[in-house]
Amino acid sequence: MKILVIGGGGREHALCWKLAGEGHELFCAPGNPGIAEVAVCNQIKINDRKGLLDWAKEVQAELVVVGPEDPLISGMADMFRENGFLVFGPGQDAARLEGSKAFSKDMMKRAGVPTARHQVFSDPGAAKEFAAQLCASDEGVVIKASGAALGKGVVVCDDFEHAEIVIEEMLVGGIMGDAGRTIVVEERLRGKEFSLLTLVSRSQIRSLPVAQDYKRIGDGDTGLNTGGMGSYSPVNWVSDDLVAQVEEEVVKPILASLAELDIDFRGVLFSGLMLVGEHPYCLEYNVRFGDPEIQTIVSRLGDGFAEALLACAKGEAIPEISVQNNAACTVVVASGGYPGEYEKGNKISVKSVPDSVTHFHAGTANSGGDLVTAGGRVIAVCGVGSDLESAREHAYAGVDGVSFSGKQFRSDIAK
Ligand code: AMP
Ligand code: GLY
Repeated sequence: MKILVIGGGGREHALCWKLAGEGHELFCAPGNPGIAEVAVCNQIKINDRKGLLDWAKEVQAELVVVGPEDPLISGMADMFRENGFLVFGPGQDAARLEGSKAFSKDMMKRAGVPTARHQVFSDPGAAKEFAAQLCASDEGVVIKASGAALGKGVVVCDDFEHAEIVIEEMLVGGIMGDAGRTIVVEERLRGKEFSLLTLVSRSQIRSLPVAQDYKRIGDGDTGLNTGGMGSYSPVNWVSDDLVAQVEEEVVKPILASLAELDIDFRGVLFSGLMLVGEHPYCLEYNVRFGDPEIQTIVSRLGDGFAEALLACAKGEAIPEISVQNNAACTVVVASGGYPGEYEKGNKISVKSVPDSVTHFHAGTANSGGDLVTAGGRVIAVCGVGSDLESAREHAYAGVDGVSFSGKQFRSDIAK
């Protein structure tokens, strides 16, 4: 099958790697130097809709997979569908689950999905009043920019003083731009986090193996939130029963509520969850594969991934995908300074690695024959093994083989 993947980060490299590995012919725009090893890349800009559509026609794509959230939120899946393509990725209506945290929380309420108590604000005074109320009954509060902000729009505040500053910065100072003109102020939950990625074909679902993500930049979960610094799977404290519970309480009800609004979902629903005591709460929904969760997940899947994505695109029953009896661990190697300001254009050298290690390129580029850094998260190194310990060892051996000036990574992934 000819498959066109839209995007050019670590997630898209993982998708292309897996789909090419199943014997399909891969095309990717804009792609990156890592993706170019497994797919034909064409550096069409992601906002050049006409260019992307023309290329899809030219290569006669039999399936289009839209990777990142921004194009989904702005309706790229609809555009391809309207032009007769089979598309894995929800339309603009459903992508609001990720594009607007205010919409998403409203839908959770409507669907009865367990989630943190919240209110939506654009007025700083009212927001502070509610934050003060929440802080009076608990330590801390969470402030979220409503719009999509590359995983950096959420601030977990330890006390009201901190919350006040963040509310002021977002609503008055505009530090998150338009994404932060409306905010969600919500109760701070405490528990263990995990992500469930569920393939959705209208009302039918099939969840992928659970992966745990590491959101903070620093070891021991310290420092700022990032897009994700590492992941591993399997997660031994998430049982099959818990997955089934999440499907019943978090996944199915939201899809039913979307269906009530005549919104059809064909893609992947990412539920960001927190286990509080024995109860799973939904922190957020995303409408695309998690990065760096998917690097870990595809490294554990057997055959049948492309067929499953195609079935979702067609709205048909999703065939089973086999899962290998192995473990995988992904460690993100990032630019110094990330998630704040960082340098670009630093020369990268990558030592060759055994089969148990894969380097998934995220923020890399070619410059004058050299591989150079071009983003905050540069390369996600995935190790596989018969158990987590060996997967972890392989991943960190792969990390050692990557060098560039300013390189940083967490040393406690899957520890
Ligand atoms: P989100 O983008 O909504 O998943 O938030 C990013 C991260 O912020 C999550 O992965 C959590 O670590 C943290 N977070 C979000 N909401 C809450 C909450 N209500 N209580 C505690 N931590 C939260
Ligand atoms: N790693 C979390 C995300 O993709 O949003």
